[in-house]
Amino acid sequence: MSPATPLPVSPARLVRELGDWQRPDQPTYRALAARIRLLLLDGRLAVDTRLPAERDLGARLGVSRNTIAAAYAALREAGYLTSVRGSGSRLCLPGGARGGADLGRTSAIDFRRATFTAYPGITDLYAEAVERIPAHIEESGYDIHGLPMLREAVAAHYVGRGIPTTSEQIIVTSGAQHALHLVTRALIRPGERVLIEHPSYAHAFDTLISGGARLLPQPIEPGGWDISATVDTLRRTRPAAGYVMPDFQNPSGASLAEEDRRTLARAATQSGTTLIVDETTSWLDIDRGERTGLAAFSGDVVTLGSLGKVVWGAMRIGWIRAPRPLVDRILAARSAVDLGTAILEQIVATLALRDIESVLGFRRTQLRDSRDHLVSLIREHFPEWTPHVVDGGMSLWQHTGQVSTLALADAARAEGLAIIPGTRFGVDGAFDHHLRLPFGYTHADLTAGVLALRRAADAVGSPSAQRRAFDPVV
Ligand SMILES: Cc1ncc(COP(=O)(O)O)c(C=O)c1O
Repeated sequence: MSPATPLPVSPARLVRELGDWQRPDQPTYRALAARIRLLLLDGRLAVDTRLPAERDLGARLGVSRNTIAAAYAALREAGYLTSVRGSGSRLCLPGGARGGADLGRTSAIDFRRATFTAYPGITDLYAEAVERIPAHIEESGYDIHGLPMLREAVAAHYVGRGIPTTSEQIIVTSGAQHALHLVTRALIRPGERVLIEHPSYAHAFDTLISGGARLLPQPIEPGGWDISATVDTLRRTRPAAGYVMPDFQNPSGASLAEEDRRTLARAATQSGTTLIVDETTSWLDIDRGERTGLAAFSGDVVTLGSLGKVVWGAMRIGWIRAPRPLVDRILAARSAVDLGTAILEQIVATLALRDIESVLGFRRTQLRDSRDHLVSLIREHFPEWTPHVVDGGMSLWQHTGQVSTLALADAARAEGLAIIPGTRFGVDGAFDHHLRLPFGYTHADLTAGVLALRRAADAVGSPSAQRRAFDPVV
């Protein structure tokens, strides 16, 4: 984004992002400045974002214009805001660094991603794929449907799970995130309601909201879904779509009970709701066992898949499985977004699916080992917390008791640890007292991270340090 074209954040959205920002122990302007700074550091507000006019934000928040002016002045003084006459106040980082992804470079340990490094067999798969390239050299590569042999391999994978599927029903995408974007564009019109699990995957919120969806949050506990409440919401509100992760939900790790799957699929059909089933995390079984895919219960379900979590995120390979008419609609709209997925990665993905049982066996051992290590670290260093031991997925969804994770994220940064406040997984500031703790790291990194987290939690907990943690600007 060029400094000449700052992106404005509306007062309404900023108020939503701010959530519950007031602090009883802080002057209002400081608490507001601290929260805006956290939103910037957390990547929820981008560098160059233009903040609302003082009067407009004051009116929305029910505080005086002077309070907003003082908060902006404090941010400016600390190097987080620049103001240019005539073009308002823009967020920036001290020293001119860019926000979002770059922030990780300043942290020794980055607990913000629930991923693993590449499957160790990846170089062999690439080497084999390169040998196979000559067979594809005549192809243009501008193929928005995807390499036929990969679509066949993906379809065979569904057939193996008891879900009849043809390769025509598969679209290869550049990851599941891209898949969700394409499905959102094809399915959801601005203003339509979409049921989401709450908490849920933060980038899915971003995609759905950018498609104009009105989100209908449905609570999920680490123990699972309240299926009758979900069915009731579907009946009452008839949302256009429902975005769900039935297996090892990100971030809670919860899975939809086998007996509830048919119920959910049936209720969605009855309410005219298309279920968008994100199975990106479904491969991450540690000790749960296979469950039936929702697409087995209804022909209307759209399923998203990815090799990102088990093979390698950097391959950027995912897919959509959808009913034929929807496949046609997605394909008709796709070329406005991109013109296909890289062919070498599609060949690698085909080979990875051939070897998927060994890939999953390797990951299962790795996941079990790292989950158990993280759980024992939490038990040892956070006796006041009770970890919910997940049976799959890549993270613990830890309740932090009295500790605000917005404050914790700030204190952790000072300890060289990057974490995501729980609010990123909720709407309207929910889940400030939950922390997603990913375990896809080495033992050494998990140990160092938990020790840094302990120091940060102690800092947030002590009243004098609490003032410090919320006091970013003076
Ligand atoms: C639930 C969920 N969906 C989608 C994605 C994005 O997957 P991909 O890397 O294939 O785009 C992720 C990645 O973290 C995820 O956790």
